[in-house]
Amino acid sequence: MEQYLDLVRFPLNELESPFGKRLLSRCQRELNEDGRFNLDQFLKCSAIERCLQEIEAKLRHSAFRHSRQHNIYFDDNVDGLDSSHPALKRMNTVNHTLCGDLLARSLLERIYEWPPLIEFLAKVLGMSRLFPMADPLARLNVMVYGEGEALNWHFDRAEFATVLLLSAPRQGGLFQISSNLRSDADPNYEGVGELLSGNHESVQTVDLVPGTLNVFRGKNSAHRITQVEGEQPRIIAVFSYCETSDFVFSKEDRNQFYGRSEPIASKSIWFKGLIFWVQRVAIDSNTGRSVVW
Ligand SMILES: [Fe+2]
Repeated sequence: MEQYLDLVRFPLNELESPFGKRLLSRCQRELNEDGRFNLDQFLKCSAIERCLQEIEAKLRHSAFRHSRQHNIYFDDNVDGLDSSHPALKRMNTVNHTLCGDLLARSLLERIYEWPPLIEFLAKVLGMSRLFPMADPLARLNVMVYGEGEALNWHFDRAEFATVLLLSAPRQGGLFQISSNLRSDADPNYEGVGELLSGNHESVQTVDLVPGTLNVFRGKNSAHRITQVEGEQPRIIAVFSYCETSDFVFSKEDRNQFYGRSEPIASKSIWFKGLIFWVQRVAIDSNTGRSVVW
């Protein structure tokens, strides 16, 4: 991994060394104080190029265009809130997503599954253990925001998010966050309503450069990607980890986020099986010679 990741500045594979311990305590402190931390330019430039090359064709041909209207909760019915409440303001989100099944055996998947990274995240977050997500679609995503596209204000369902920036737009496409806008005990509907009505006093814009790993607690911190301006897209890889080894999305969730519920690979195996069966029938019912397709 040394050829891809800056393990001199971020020795994730040597956390017991003095430098490793300093890194760990710095990230823990920032996560506690700000709800987030960055490993700036964690991914080397040559590795960014390789990741972008590996996904280029797939982005053109296989990405799912996710376009929807939603509120900050991704949920139309929130107990105790009238539909006219400002906290339920509806917004637009558009992006393009490559799912985990289409990233199999890529460099991004190798980084996502690299054990020292997973152990480091668990230690920073104070979790006994983390696992790569079992869901073949949701585990690892690449998300692209082109000109005029944005991910609007939302709260995550997961406790934390791990995002690797691969390409940053020249203008717009900024990551903004209102840390701890709500808590598990207090939904702070009034504060949420104020944010969505344009009061951005609590909002921080996080300046990120490509190659940076950004980890944040998105469950109670509202966040968004502002609209991208210009031709240069914002491209991120989103790594999803869980505290259990068997967590998967429901079929409904997969359909909503990815436009499908089954991995492409299994569809292709099914299709190849169908072709084989048709060929066998053709051979048996005719001359015994294989059919040329
Ligand atoms: Fe998010």
